[in-house]
Amino acid sequence: MTDDAAAPENYPAHARRLQVRQVTFQAEGINSYELVDPDGNELPPFTAGAHIDFYFRDGSVRQYSLCNDPAERHRYLIAVLREPNSRGGSEGLHDRVHVQRTVNVGEVRNNFPLNPDAERHLLLAGGIGVTPMMAMMAELRANGGDYTMHYCTKSPRHTAFRHELADLVEEGRVVLHHDGGDPRQGLDIAGLLAEHEPGTHLYFCGPPGFMRAIQNAAKDWPEGTVHFEFFSAAASPKSTLTAEEMAAAGEGSVGIGFQVQIASTGAIYFVANHKSIAEVLTENGIEVETSCNSGLCGTCKTRYLTGDVDHQDLIMSPAEQGEYLTLCCSRSKSELLVLDL
Ligand code: FES
Repeated sequence: MTDDAAAPENYPAHARRLQVRQVTFQAEGINSYELVDPDGNELPPFTAGAHIDFYFRDGSVRQYSLCNDPAERHRYLIAVLREPNSRGGSEGLHDRVHVQRTVNVGEVRNNFPLNPDAERHLLLAGGIGVTPMMAMMAELRANGGDYTMHYCTKSPRHTAFRHELADLVEEGRVVLHHDGGDPRQGLDIAGLLAEHEPGTHLYFCGPPGFMRAIQNAAKDWPEGTVHFEFFSAAASPKSTLTAEEMAAAGEGSVGIGFQVQIASTGAIYFVANHKSIAEVLTENGIEVETSCNSGLCGTCKTRYLTGDVDHQDLIMSPAEQGEYLTLCCSRSKSELLVLDL
């Protein structure tokens, strides 16, 4: 799967080979994987909230948040929830990635950074959504930032990094909420977010129902203070959303096809319903970099000049969407989109 050069053609040229130094049982169904350079070299730096692309032997790519302290240069730590209904990534990883195996990863990217102007940071983690928060708390501790994390899980058994977090729980920096599988018994999200305290920024990551509840509760928070990341890890969020959630996320509004124009050359291509802009451009010899193909990672983010974009991504703010689209999943409400390419 991720192993070695057995299928190198499935890995992009920039892929980096790392070795699994340690696999740790973190909680029910959750392992963490410590990845290091096989020759002991330092790894490229990252900031809290970043993820890496993980290349699988079948050509698929998953994104996993880095959860170790960003000050560390000798390793990347990811944690993965085994999800039987995922597209194979998390199960394959749990089954076949062992200590000393070599894996292939891409560049570090960050679509979920801490806001340096925030006076305090409110972190809400649902289940495996705790992974980016672990790095965020490390960075905030190092910078003297003010933060609180509410961490929602089913039970202590399902709580990754429980022992690591014990001191922070003691200090009141981390508050654990166990709902026994019934969200109504867990954190009162609406109550917590009812009032926005000036200077507070909100960050959240977790399963779809958790994300939806927080988005609703924080809908009146000032623009720019709410930051989130859908699972970009073990499973594509779209594979776990209900039809209703898909509609809320923008899935399904595909339209009847449209045209894209390349500003630099004037060339126009038709994008049929069943194709993405990225696919059409690639077919026509235009190099396009993609990774998640789900509007999650920002790899294919591209500026557009004119047109009425039907954004389908899950990462950009309304302000960014006024300038950029994602080639992997944006559609068009107008007949033509002009791309700044
Ligand atoms: S490839 Fe990830 S957002 Fe388009």
